[in-house]
Parts: sequence; structure tokens; C-alpha cells
Amino acid sequence: MLKDKNIVLGVTGGIAAYKSVEIASRLRKAGASVHVIMTAGAQNFITPLTFREITGNPVITTMWGEVHNYNVEHIALAQLADLVIVAPATANFLAKAAMGMADDMLTTTLLATKAPIYFAPAMNTNMYNNPLTQTNIQSLVDLGWHLIPPASGHLACGIDGVGRMPDPVEILDFVLENIAHKADLQGKKILVTAAGTYEPIDPVRYIGNRSSGKMGYAIAAAAQKRGAEVILVSGPSALMPPQGVDFIGVESAAQMREAVLKHFPKTDIVIKAAAVADYRVRNVAEQKIKKNDDKLTLVLEKNPDILKELGEKKNSDQILVGFAAETQNLLEYAQAKLEKKNLDMIVANDVSRKDAGFNTDTNVVKLLYKNGTIEEMPIMTKQKLANELLSKIIRLKNQ
Ligand code: PMT
Repeated sequence: MLKDKNIVLGVTGGIAAYKSVEIASRLRKAGASVHVIMTAGAQNFITPLTFREITGNPVITTMWGEVHNYNVEHIALAQLADLVIVAPATANFLAKAAMGMADDMLTTTLLATKAPIYFAPAMNTNMYNNPLTQTNIQSLVDLGWHLIPPASGHLACGIDGVGRMPDPVEILDFVLENIAHKADLQGKKILVTAAGTYEPIDPVRYIGNRSSGKMGYAIAAAAQKRGAEVILVSGPSALMPPQGVDFIGVESAAQMREAVLKHFPKTDIVIKAAAVADYRVRNVAEQKIKKNDDKLTLVLEKNPDILKELGEKKNSDQILVGFAAETQNLLEYAQAKLEKKNLDMIVANDVSRKDAGFNTDTNVVKLLYKNGTIEEMPIMTKQKLANELLSKIIRLKNQ
């Protein structure tokens, strides 16, 4: 897919700049012609020579240098580019780009290009979470730039948190997935549920679970990019709703049920990645419960099973996909849910694994189909899995 494509790789001044060398190398190996533009900051971390050797092309480091043997005056690369990737994208770069500044070759090129732009923010967690940075990211996403979400992990500044640039392989996977799946869900209405529900105990406490929403949000974002009309019904999550989806925020299972049932009749595909609480507190206290006694007994009653209800209501054109989060007897329990809830497919997660399930960036799943087929998927990012699932669902729909 990248063969003979002109790809502009923007490298800004972050410690993750060293990873961009591998991105350049992989792009070139994939047959692309790679043109690197480095900011002044990036050159403090890595030399232009490295990129020149890797790409075989001159590296642009300034707006005021010599014009090279091909035409690189100001906007030539902007016009040449089939695709732009900025990795790493620092907070400073994002601020400048969101303001429409053009004070170096990278920002100038981005302002002038009509090519799709992908950007991979990488920075300290507090900088990333700062509302200014988030506003800048949102502005760029609103303009149609593709955000490659940062991963969580140990950062160069010594703390653990979100802000790590994904590995080069993941960045390229993300870009390729986007290019590959253009509009194969055009005209389809997809309802996705994500994150966990909160079941109130009193006005300040709740029963919840560890679902971050990453899996469901990845599915919603991927479906939207592939042309679907997406409704995302989500329990509380720290994630930003993907751009372009119709977002409905809920707290309890009862609220999720109401939103899902309301939209279900008009949807073609439902994907229930949410971790819905099976029980709720029978008598929710009106006032904050005081700790007067040594023991507190809460009586829980069963929540309605939303997915089961959908399974009972669904018509033969609708595709219903559930998830099963299990810590033991994965296949057996998932199979039982597939049948009981009348699903077309169930995505079985072994959530006892460190690299799968709740609040992880990757997932490892087995897919169980109505016809008895079982497919084992290798470990992959939740973004990649989202696209894999959508491709399989499209195949089911076309059967
Ligand atoms: O959000 P992340 O941190 O990325 O984590 C992703 C995930 C682990 C939450 C996700 O991949 C996942 O497995 N979601 C389903 C979790 C779950 O609650 O599974 P379950 O086996 O309890 O439920 C089976 C299915 O029935 C699910 O599709 C669930 O949405 C649905 N259900 C369950 C109970 C209920 N009362 N109503 C429902 O609709």
C-alpha cells in the first residue's frame, strides 16, 4: 500500500525522536519514498545524517538553507506528499500547529499540504493531560488530522503514565489500517457500547469495574473512519470520544439499557464491548452513608441483561456482537453467552492475562461464531483488533 508513495515524516524535539528512525526505515522497506523534515528541537536528539542515510533523501532542517537538487522550496514537499506522519509530536509542535503557525519548515509544510496528516503525540503525562494540549489535539482532530493515541507506560521523565509514543510497528499499523479500510461501512449504522457502568450506593459512592473504554472507543473510532454512522454509548471513561461519533454518556446499566434500546431498532450492527454491572444496589441511599457501624450490608439485585434483550429483539438483518470477559473456562463460558444471548459472534477475552482485557493497550481474543467456528487472534493493539473485528463483521453481513 505504501509502494511508490511520497511520505513526509515530521520529527519534532522529543526523546522519542530516536524511534522515528525505525519508522523511516520501515516506510522505506515498504517501498515508500520518505522525506524527513526535522525541527530545530529534533536535531538536538538525533542528527539529520541518520535520516539521510536511512531514507536516501536529503533531510530538511531549515527554511533558509540551500535548495536541494529537487524542488523543496517552501511548499514543494507539501504538494509532493501522499501522506504526512509527525512522530513524535511534542506539546510545543501541537500548540503551533493548532494555531496555524508557520515558523519552520514542518509547520509551513503542514499548513500547505492537502495530504492526510497523522500525528503521534509524545510527552510527559501532565503535559499531555494539560487542557491546553488536549484542546490543541482536539482542534487538529477536528480539522481531520488523525491522532495516533499515545501509549501508557514508563516515560523518559521517570514517571508512569500516558504520553509514550507507540512503537514504530504500531504507528505503521495504525496508518496502514486507516488507509486500507476506506469506506467499507458507508451507509451502515453501528451502535457500540464501551467502558464500565457505575452502580450508585449513595450520592458519592458506586460499584464499578476496571474497564477503561479503550476497546469500545477503538471500535467506534475505526467504524467511523470506515464510513459508518456510529453511536457510542459509554459508561464513565477518561478517554475523549472519537471525533465524528454520536456520543451518549451514561453511568448506570439502567441508563445504558435505555440508550441502547432507544437506538437499537435503527442499527445494522451492535457491538457490546461495555463491561456492564451484573448487579445494582437495591436501596440506593439518598444521603451519604455514615460509618456508624463496623459492618455495612448492601443488598444487590440483578441488572437486566441488555445484550440478551437485544438478542431477543433482533431481526435477521441485524448483526449482534458481544464480548465475554473471563478469568477461567474462556471458551466454555463464551460459547454459553453466544447461545444464550442469540449473538452472531462473541469476542472472548481472557482477562487474567496482563496484555489483554481491562485497561490494556493490547488485547488477545478468540472469536466464536454462531456456526460453531472459533478463530484465535494473535496479540494486537486494540485499534488493530477493532479493525479486524469490523472486517469480520462485514464478512458476516455479506454472507
Ligand atoms: O474498556 P477496556 O479497558 O478496553 O476493556 C475492554 C473489556 C475487557 C471491558 C472488553 O474487551 C470486554 O471484554 N467487555 C465485556 C466485559 C463483560 O462485562 O463481559 P461479560 O462477560 O460480563 O458480558 C458479556 C456481554 O454481555 C458483554 O458484551 C456485555 O456488554 C453484555 N452485558 C453484560 C451484562 C449485562 N447486564 N448486560 C449486557 O449487555
